[in-house]
Amino acid sequence: MARNTVNTLLKLKQEGKKISQVTCYDYSTARLVDAAGIDTILVGDSLGMVMQGYENTLPVTMEEMIIYGRSVVRGAQNAFVVIDMPFMSYQCSVEQAVMNAGRLIKETGANAVKLEGGVAVAPQIKAIVDSGIPVCGHIGMTPQSCNLMSGFKVQGKSEANAERIMQDAFAVQEAGAFMMVIECVPPKLSALISKKMHLITIGIGAGAGCDGQVLVNQDMTQMNGDFLPKFCKHFGNVGDALIAAYKAYDEEVKAGTFPDEQHSFPKSECPEEFLKVLDERY
Ligand code: KIV
Repeated sequence: MARNTVNTLLKLKQEGKKISQVTCYDYSTARLVDAAGIDTILVGDSLGMVMQGYENTLPVTMEEMIIYGRSVVRGAQNAFVVIDMPFMSYQCSVEQAVMNAGRLIKETGANAVKLEGGVAVAPQIKAIVDSGIPVCGHIGMTPQSCNLMSGFKVQGKSEANAERIMQDAFAVQEAGAFMMVIECVPPKLSALISKKMHLITIGIGAGAGCDGQVLVNQDMTQMNGDFLPKFCKHFGNVGDALIAAYKAYDEEVKAGTFPDEQHSFPKSECPEEFLKVLDERY
């Protein structure tokens, strides 16, 4: 299988085929996600919450995105890798946005960058695309604006808010983005947006009418205990499987049954006579 590209992903939309995306932040998980045949990986700044334990994504830095992003790219052979631009790495100016998008692509090997916002960041999206970097937009509930939005709330319920989201969608598309995340928007509104767009819409908490779906890896694999946002589903219970493995290891170490002969190197032992010498000498 060859790595997905902007064109192969756009073709999926044109053929009416759904696109899968999952977040990922490290090499070994990227290999697993890739082996499962997921179309695209998002190195989300949600890593601030699920990998670093912050209460939101705001503290995440460019340097951190680069470290996590590099590991993911090394593990993903086929999935198209999108990497998030962290808070305040693109909002200040078009020049800052292009410089930081360039750094993310150059220093991680990711295939595209993602930034949050619509009309307000259209000049940044256009300039990044003009510099040769594919862009994924992100509209609706934009976690980097959680303070302005008074938390992580569904967007687009009122007429004014729904119209603003529609305008954001068109601004992102007209600026040249090939893909756009729609987060926490009522299903009929996001389906309408998806129908009107030629770019790929990826929903999270936005119903089934989007061209694809994204979920946070730790949430969908139950690595966060019972934490389950309304829009998420547990597709497996990796958390409990890991706890069971750690418990079994703990028990065997404490019982002295691990490591046994099979997991040691008895055949490479140094000569018995010399062990006696060492025993006497020390
Ligand atoms: O950072 C992230 O993981 C995201 C997804 C929730 C879309 O932006």
